[in-house]
Amino acid sequence: MEVIVLDRPEDVAALAADHVEELVRAHPRATLGLATGSSPLSTYAELARRHRAGTAPSYDQVRAFTLDEYVGLPPGDPRSYRATIARELTDHLGLAAAQVAGPDGGLEQLPTAGERYEALLRDAGGIDLQILGIGSDGHLAFNEPGSALSSRTRLKTLTRRTREDNARFFASLDEVPRHVVTQGLGTIGEARHLLLLATGTGKAAAVAAAVEGPLTASCPASVLQLHRRATVLVDTKAAGALGRVDYYREVYEGKPAWQRPST
Ligand code: GLP
Repeated sequence: MEVIVLDRPEDVAALAADHVEELVRAHPRATLGLATGSSPLSTYAELARRHRAGTAPSYDQVRAFTLDEYVGLPPGDPRSYRATIARELTDHLGLAAAQVAGPDGGLEQLPTAGERYEALLRDAGGIDLQILGIGSDGHLAFNEPGSALSSRTRLKTLTRRTREDNARFFASLDEVPRHVVTQGLGTIGEARHLLLLATGTGKAAAVAAAVEGPLTASCPASVLQLHRRATVLVDTKAAGALGRVDYYREVYEGKPAWQRPST
């Protein structure tokens, strides 16, 4: 695992955007895995800004897959993750609706939602770069503590804490759906590169548990420790509870130019 500690949240967004653009330049048909939540928002804004400025690679052939979806929201509901990702990123990059997919949170075919999404991911050849946030309790996508480290896309029940964390997007806590369809930890682990973004003190404990704590289903994000290419981008505040910050900084400062994204 590579842990990169940067001074400011803007630095995290810029470096994350560099990673995305480097991939798309090298592989115009790349598949991107997109997280929702606040953590990637400034990265998405930076990608959109570069696209508007005309310096971005073409996203014409890129395909994008979201991580998870609420169950039971009407199609097109602005709070759905599918609508959110279009509004925050893919519309700005010019991706057509057919280039973007997410788990089906509709009630009609819920029992098969997981396997249908797994088939879509498989048919697309898997995810090249998966952007991730981290929940304050260490959850990844909507894999709550206790989720099997090898889990696949499936129906999950949210914890009260996650529903409270996400209540700001709804009129009240009661409106936050209790159920979701989420990529499993095993599904996420098949992406060829994981890029976890975390900023602010509210994420410090979760980041430390994920990066330096034991590998355990009690901290779903600790599954990154098993991945052959996981990059954790944090600002100084989110790095606040890490024990090896000096080492991570030393490694990054000594990193040769050929190992850095070239944009
Ligand atoms: C939700 C999402 C996760 C996200 C998490 C953290 O639970 N399903 O993918 O990482 O929130 O959100 P935020 O970045 O807003 O703190």
